[in-house]
Amino acid sequence: MTTLADQWGIHPQQFWVRGQQPAQPVEFVEELGLWNVYGHQEATRIFSDPRTYSSDLTMFFPEIADPSMSEGNLLQMDPPDHRKLRNLVSHAFTPKIVADLEPRIHALTGELLDAVADKQSWELVADLAYPLPVIVIADLLGVPSGDRELFRHWVDALFANANQFSLKDESGEQAREFQKQQEQLQPMLDYLRAHAAERRTKPREDLLTQLVQAEVDGDRLNDNQVVNFASILLLAGHITTTMLLGNTILCLDAHPEQAAQVRADRSKVPGAIEESLRFLSPFSAVARRNTEEVELGGVRLPANQMLMVWVGAANRDARQFDRPEVFDVTRDPNPHLGFGRGIHFCLGAPLARLEGRVALNLLLDRFPGLRTDPEAPVTFMPSPNLTGVRSLPLLTGGA
Ligand code: HEM
Repeated sequence: MTTLADQWGIHPQQFWVRGQQPAQPVEFVEELGLWNVYGHQEATRIFSDPRTYSSDLTMFFPEIADPSMSEGNLLQMDPPDHRKLRNLVSHAFTPKIVADLEPRIHALTGELLDAVADKQSWELVADLAYPLPVIVIADLLGVPSGDRELFRHWVDALFANANQFSLKDESGEQAREFQKQQEQLQPMLDYLRAHAAERRTKPREDLLTQLVQAEVDGDRLNDNQVVNFASILLLAGHITTTMLLGNTILCLDAHPEQAAQVRADRSKVPGAIEESLRFLSPFSAVARRNTEEVELGGVRLPANQMLMVWVGAANRDARQFDRPEVFDVTRDPNPHLGFGRGIHFCLGAPLARLEGRVALNLLLDRFPGLRTDPEAPVTFMPSPNLTGVRSLPLLTGGA
């Protein structure tokens, strides 16, 4: 049977978006040398126990493990170092700081939509879903948002690969691919390093200045920590939110009765965003390593295995969600893992939710007849670890 996911061209490996349940919640993949975790309760257990399930994966990449590349990268850190850095950077993302951005996000969305107001057709990602979060995160960091085409170039290189990660890559192709990615990211690191250096001598009212001035246990962050953390924000801070906006519009378009409910009752907008995160989870996989022998999902895993935790599959787990294949903006509760869980819970979640809510409301206000273009189909990100719209042509005329 052809599913919506097939029509949309989502990566063929993502069986959960095609209404299928996994044969078992945890499985070993011989040819890749790693474990797939699909179950919601198993994923939750992993996220809740960072001592047993570490985020430090450097032992799997001896040939490319360069500490200068990973220090300051919260995503790869374990307690206690993770807690120290997270406490520090959390000050930059307090609920108040994010809430105060609302008028700016509203104005920016308005300007971006003004530019397409008279068009019969436009493209959601290029015209709104990409520039909005990038401009917001660039402003926060204090780098010129006019450089966003540069950021796009760097990020595209990172997620261009459609192959699944493997620990058994004997051809060396994967190592070469990593090498290539690092080389393509180098200009971004140099760019951020130059901006950070400037803030040390000329402080401003921005996040980069806060980072260079911040202290953890009396020590300042070093250059690598500042640059790596800023690069995570620049990367994680926008492509995910871009996908969230695209996915939400696509889901509403495919479910007109749900869209009508949201249009009629805007208090359903946040529910639509949450359901979009569950139904098409932008960050569909995160990786962990078990530090000791464990039993998980009824199977025994020796120590130091690589675990791919498929958040997207956990969000469709029929043991957790009633009718998981149904897109329902009123789903409550909706304990999706789209932003992760536990100590690594997405730092930018309040910002992504705010951008999603503001953008969706304005789109509904301004375009009563917005719909996808049957002549120009949606495209999805090629990486198997992402589930997100890459381009979404839209028509505005007539309901
Ligand atoms: C962590 C998803 C937006 C910054 C995470 C994690 C997920 C995630 C699943 C957990 C990773 C893990 O457990 O290993 C998303 C999605 C987003 C989004 C789906 C948008 C829809 C953002 C934004 C920012 C951001 C807007 C910043 C401005 C981060 C950071 C972490 C993180 C810094 C690491 C937190 C830690 O390790 O303590 N995100 N994210 N994300 N996210 Fe997001």
